Amino acid sequence: MRTQVAIIGAGPAGLLLGQLLHKHGIDNIILERQTADYVLSRVRAGVIEQVTMGLLDEAGVGARMHKDGLVHDGVQICVDGVRHRISFKELTGKAVMVYGQTEITKDLMDGRAAVGAPTVYAADDVALHDIFSGAPRVTYRGDSKSHEIDCDFIAGCDGFHGISRKSAPPRAITAHERIYPLGWLGILSDTPPVSEELIYVRHDRGFALCSMRSPTRSRYYIQCSLADDIDSWPDERFWEALRPRLDEEGRERLVTGPSIEKSIAPLRSFVAEPMRFGRLFLAGDAAHIVPPTGAKGLNLAASDVRYLSQAFIEHYADKSDSGLDHYSDRALARVWKAERFSWWMTTTLHRISENPFDLKLQVAELDYLFRSTAAATAFAENYVGLPY
Ligand code: FAD
Ligand code: PHB
Repeated sequence: MRTQVAIIGAGPAGLLLGQLLHKHGIDNIILERQTADYVLSRVRAGVIEQVTMGLLDEAGVGARMHKDGLVHDGVQICVDGVRHRISFKELTGKAVMVYGQTEITKDLMDGRAAVGAPTVYAADDVALHDIFSGAPRVTYRGDSKSHEIDCDFIAGCDGFHGISRKSAPPRAITAHERIYPLGWLGILSDTPPVSEELIYVRHDRGFALCSMRSPTRSRYYIQCSLADDIDSWPDERFWEALRPRLDEEGRERLVTGPSIEKSIAPLRSFVAEPMRFGRLFLAGDAAHIVPPTGAKGLNLAASDVRYLSQAFIEHYADKSDSGLDHYSDRALARVWKAERFSWWMTTTLHRISENPFDLKLQVAELDYLFRSTAAATAFAENYVGLPY
């Protein structure tokens, strides 16, 4: 087989890249290790920046998002039982969209099927070859047979645990990492959300987040220990841990019910530099991870894909490699700002340290955020997403 761009991974990064390239007549094949159903069963991100919405529209898959997504003009932050609101609209003129990653993935898969672009699911043993040559190749096993794809470029969109980053020479990569000593325990339940807007909670008992997927489906998270396992968190224990972290109105309005999904995610900050190795380009979680507190992971995957798709389009349409040559630097400049914001939100809202000095700093940071229009504007600008 031959294609122009071989894409590894059918998460949001790979599917969005495939769709944008296809629109510009650039041939691509996506190889995904899992089945399509498995990919669709992963409950993850929920908040979409305005620039990400624009990109989904450009890819021709934004219709359902505009119909079913919830536009949020602001966010609430509850500190030790007192709630504050930050208005994105007033401070930046922008808003975010609450629309689940599962739905975006489905829209992208449907869009890809509608144009007949090829995706190989359940592709085993994907391996990258000759990435520093002019003729890279990808091999894999599927239907008990070995396959080989010749291509011009490889896009590594296969997430943090994928094979692409590991295929670059270790000496060529500098990895920056911060691991936080806690995780997020999340549940999904068919209960009305406690509030119309998201509530991020800083409390002595630990962080909590009240989010949603629709007016009848809630998504809640609480900070948990990395040693915790799901079985030690029956639904009742989860609700008992969440309720006292909310303010009085939240405690009264919280509707509990059986969970329909429950999972634990570790918190990590990670950046691998550079994001290009010869003809291999990394995008999304394959190159960087943020803790979910800033709602930035999927949005960063989308901004990488914007820079990368434009670079491929320039290469094929204008015979210019300038975009490809600058891809890594351009993407990383935006990545590091999102890393900073996600680290700041994580360290300011979670109970990480027992050192009273650190706890006082958290309260001071938040007090400043609520009292200073400059601080609130900086927060809002970062939350709604920095411009490309
Ligand atoms: P992935 O979604 O990880 O996709 C990579 C794909 O590659 C997968 O389908 C995988 O199966 C496949 N793959 C892996 N290895 C191979 C291989 N060897 N061969 C072939 N295929 C392979 N982000 C936000 O922006 N907003 C949020 O509100 C938010 N909330 C989050 C909440 C939680 C609890 C979590 C865990 C994450 C959250 N994120 C959020 C982050 C977001 O989900 C990720 O950043 C996003 O999924 C990254 O997309 P991706 O396509 O780069 O990687
Ligand atoms: C979610 O709805 O899953 C969600 C929202 C905001 C975050 C993280 C996750 O910061």
